[in-house]
Amino acid sequence: MTVHNEANVKDIAKTVLMPGDPLRAKMIAENYLDDYKLVNNVRGMLAYTGFYKGKRLTVMASGMGIPSMGIYSYELFKFYDVDNIIRIGSCGSLVKDLNLYDIAVAYDSYSISTYGVSYGDTSDIIRGSDYLITKTKDEALKLNKKVTEVRANTSDTFYADSNIDDLVNNKGCSVIEMETFGLYFNAKLLNKNALSIFTVSDNLITKEETTSTERQNAFTDMIELALNTAINL
Ligand code: HPA
Repeated sequence: MTVHNEANVKDIAKTVLMPGDPLRAKMIAENYLDDYKLVNNVRGMLAYTGFYKGKRLTVMASGMGIPSMGIYSYELFKFYDVDNIIRIGSCGSLVKDLNLYDIAVAYDSYSISTYGVSYGDTSDIIRGSDYLITKTKDEALKLNKKVTEVRANTSDTFYADSNIDDLVNNKGCSVIEMETFGLYFNAKLLNKNALSIFTVSDNLITKEETTSTERQNAFTDMIELALNTAINL
């Protein structure tokens, strides 16, 4: 147990799927997991552990932003001895050819966040797990789902005019979101596996946005990809 997580160590599975939104964690447990139980409700950061196709998995919310993801993923890796965390979230597309509802996986994250600096690491790019990327791509092929590999920009702000031109042309980023850098940093620090899978929820170039209903349906594809990847780890 930690001050942020009341689950017992044995109540958390070795692989954890992390949506940002606690209610999405609840929805995934209710719709996909068998014999699930609520294992954390501190601050409403819901975590459920149950079985998907016979494999024991946990789904826990991360909250929004690097600091929130940073706390929960650190604790899962360090104190709950979790091996794999797969973030399942939304992202904004910075490029024309990555469209609404497309699924992307982040091979790495670029950020100007100082999260790593606090640990004495000044890297501004951190890689995700090659093992999880390979597993996810294999599963996507099997499920006939298209997945694009991207560099994600992890931003600390939602309401700021990012310099998209610089992010795309100088930094090589194709999507923007707010958690992956913290997750990948912790995985690197603690020698664990992490991967972010996204559905594109808005396009910052074309200004297209999804409605909440459309977003829900698009999420289904990504959730199924993550669940079926998770059971083969
Ligand atoms: N910015 C940051 N995070 C996001 C966005 C965005 O435009 N879209 C979805 N998550």
